[in-house]
Amino acid sequence: MKLCIFVIIVVNFNTNWFAVAATNRPNVVFIMLDDFRGNIRALGDDLAVTPNMDALLSKSFYFSSVFAQQALCAPSRNSMLTSRRPDTILTYNFQHYWRTFAGNYTTLPQYFKENGYQTESIGKIFHHGPSSNKTDDYPYSWSNPTFIPSTQEYRNRPVCKNQGDDELHRNLLCPVIVKFQPEQTLPDIQSTEAAKEFLMEAQEPFFLGIGFYKPHIPFKFPYEYLKYHDINNFRKDFLRPFDLPQAAWNPFNDLRDRDDVKSLNVSYPFGPIPSEFAAKIRQHYYASVTYIDSLLGEILKMIDFTNTIVVLTSDHGWSCGEHGEWAKYSNYEVSLRVPLIIFDPERPQSKMRRINSIAELIDVFPTLVDIAGLPKVSKCNNTLEDNLTCTEGKSLHHKMLNDEENNDDNEVAFSQYPRPGTYPTKIPDSDQPKLREIKIMGYTIRTKRFRYTAWIKFNNKKFKRNWNKIYGEELYDHDIDDSENINLVHRAEFRQLKNQLKEKLMKKFP
Ligand SMILES: *[C@@H]1O[C@H](CO)[C@@H](O)[C@H](O)[C@H]1NC(C)=O
Ligand SMILES: *[C@@H]1O[C@H](CO)[C@@H](O)[C@H](O)[C@H]1NC(C)=O
Ligand SMILES: *[C@@H]1O[C@H](CO)[C@@H](O)[C@H](O)[C@H]1NC(C)=O
Ligand SMILES: *[C@@H]1O[C@H](CO)[C@@H](O)[C@H](O)[C@H]1NC(C)=O
Ligand SMILES: *[C@@H]1O[C@H](CO)[C@@H](O)[C@H](O)[C@H]1NC(C)=O
Repeated sequence: MKLCIFVIIVVNFNTNWFAVAATNRPNVVFIMLDDFRGNIRALGDDLAVTPNMDALLSKSFYFSSVFAQQALCAPSRNSMLTSRRPDTILTYNFQHYWRTFAGNYTTLPQYFKENGYQTESIGKIFHHGPSSNKTDDYPYSWSNPTFIPSTQEYRNRPVCKNQGDDELHRNLLCPVIVKFQPEQTLPDIQSTEAAKEFLMEAQEPFFLGIGFYKPHIPFKFPYEYLKYHDINNFRKDFLRPFDLPQAAWNPFNDLRDRDDVKSLNVSYPFGPIPSEFAAKIRQHYYASVTYIDSLLGEILKMIDFTNTIVVLTSDHGWSCGEHGEWAKYSNYEVSLRVPLIIFDPERPQSKMRRINSIAELIDVFPTLVDIAGLPKVSKCNNTLEDNLTCTEGKSLHHKMLNDEENNDDNEVAFSQYPRPGTYPTKIPDSDQPKLREIKIMGYTIRTKRFRYTAWIKFNNKKFKRNWNKIYGEELYDHDIDDSENINLVHRAEFRQLKNQLKEKLMKKFP
């Protein structure tokens, strides 16, 4: 009897002690944009109008060379949030939930929750739907069910007007008058309201995830944001490089499916989209970003910067016409590179502190854990006892502590993209193949100077790779060709380098 009482007291004591310790921890506001390539004024993009991101950057760390593990929403988000590569979580599309399909892996918000945080999800942090068990991984990751704005229901409905007719269309370009939209609002406006409300009365410490739905297509935003973006600034012609492997090409099936793009009769699968319309796409992409930037400004005003870590990133980039290409769905720099902004209340900066080391989105989880001072997350290895909570990435925290320029290291980033075949198709959708359709995987390695990509045979049942069957290779030198237009892979003088990079890829993905 006595022993029993003693045990109860110890448990109670531990719980209380834990709660007290946890309240001294910093809050986290984790902001994601969808399909955002980091076109921010303060980073040197003169076409961007992003005063609020500029202001956040002026006191933050900016990681300039961060790469998504796969340029598609669900795989990238699940990968980042579990700190595991797509080949570990077996998420290459929208179908599978890692906990039941691959392993019961701990997520970033779950880790904070288990360490005494209230964790809250507003909008799109996880990709909604089967890849997060239709609950955005609640209750494991979050203290409450995700706030999904009611007007998200209209995301693919015909709500866009053309000039000169009164009908409603499912357009790609969809500037709107908000008061004439269903419920007289838009999803990201609703999410912003919800975030402000949460911040007003949040119980500390909290981890608040805010996932904006834009600039993902369709470009539906209050039309007044167009006025910041003169169409004349967006006329620019790109060509499809001639020596690309066909498997590298993504035919932007999602754009072609919109009413306004359909009526252009763009030839399949290589296009091009007519120049005037292409300029409008770029303009509307930038206007969508300015729209989100202004909502971000409302949220930043509510944040107590003395004890809140603020993170801003994206799931992947978006091709704005580069290579004659649109959308993500590829292994190119424009699709894989994402901005990563971190404000650390322990180290507020007097101006933007840029860190150029190569990093990956799977690094975000261990990095935030270290900044917040939670128990460190170990590197995954097969001998680890608790191998459900570990990272395949690395913490970037030491790069923030070190005052010296810490850029000349040998870090590399790995990414991948699946295809159902070598030639671009609508059915199966070569931009977003289902698991059973995947026959090829493109693996890519980015070093400080080069990107090497190999498209190889992939077995979708055994998840096995066949390096003897290569369907195409690419090699780009970022010192002379930052836009990846000149494929050097067949040049004799690069053979040795190519073989070295290929060895590294094969070692990583045997
Ligand atoms: C998965 O992990 C969660 C959180 O640790 C736990 O609550 C749950 O029981 C686990 N599920 C299985 C099937 O092991
Ligand atoms: C996923 O959702 C289903 C249906 O709501 C539920 O029965 C199942 O337990 C969930 N899976 C996990 C791992 O929680
Ligand atoms: C596209 O094709 C349709 C049907 O063939 C035709 O009516 C329309 O004028 C074409 N549009 C353009 C922009 O060429
Ligand atoms: C976790 O470790 C156990 C051995 O401790 C091993 O059997 C299992 O395969 C490991 N799981 C993963 C996902 O590595
Ligand atoms: C795996 O992790 C454990 C615990 O962190 C460590 O002791 C061990 O050396 C690691 N093994 C390998 C092969 O890296």
